[in-house]
Amino acid sequence: MTDEPSTRAERLTAFEQVLLGRRTVRYYRPDPIPADLLAASLAAAAHAPSPHHRAPWRLVVLTRREAKERLAMAMGEAWADDLRGDGVATERIAALLAGSRARLVEAPAVVVLCTDEATLDRYPDARRQTAEQMMAAQSAGAALQNIMLAAQARGLASCWMCAPLFCPEVVTATLGIAPTLRPQALLTLGYPAQPPPPRSRLAPAELIVRWD
Ligand SMILES: Cc1cc2nc3c(=O)[nH]c(=O)nc-3n(C[C@H](O)[C@H](O)[C@H](O)COP(=O)(O)O)c2cc1C
Repeated sequence: MTDEPSTRAERLTAFEQVLLGRRTVRYYRPDPIPADLLAASLAAAAHAPSPHHRAPWRLVVLTRREAKERLAMAMGEAWADDLRGDGVATERIAALLAGSRARLVEAPAVVVLCTDEATLDRYPDARRQTAEQMMAAQSAGAALQNIMLAAQARGLASCWMCAPLFCPEVVTATLGIAPTLRPQALLTLGYPAQPPPPRSRLAPAELIVRWD
């Protein structure tokens, strides 16, 4: 990579266009995502930093309607149980579930990101084991951001959804994946139905609480 100032400036501009242009988009056009384009976006996950360089991330990709529907239904049932436990009214639960199901089923691609517990170090105590699991989860966040930026650079939009974190066993069983895979989050991806509204961002003075 040359370090010519003009090339560097172009590179920075292109990078910032992608970085600042990435926004959460929850509704997409129905157009499918070309498989090579989706695969190239997903490959960016493998460039995330990872604890002990163990690369703990594993992806499950759902593009078939029935597969998305099955996952949405299973996670929806788990969510409904939680909502009923919270005393939420039946009609409200039905509305929430219908909205969430539509978002998954209508998204051209749904990607579930898991961490593989088999890649983690083992400790006899909960303190260090929890830290080890958190490291994997942090690395999963970096991998997700890589995918979102790689997708953004290809004209795709995405939305990070936390639902799998609340019912990991349901997700593992529904997807039929190894029990060592711990679902951390899912991404919906597609071509944006409309541009997202502007969003405020923390100013540097709010972000950096101390600089000695
Ligand atoms: C850990 C995490 C969990 C999130 N879960 C959800 C979710 O379940 N549903 C959703 O619509 N958006 C979810 N988001 C997206 C956020 O709402 C979004 O990133 C935030 O509003 C900022 O908007 P931006 O992504 O356009 O900058 C999640 C984001 C993160 C980082």
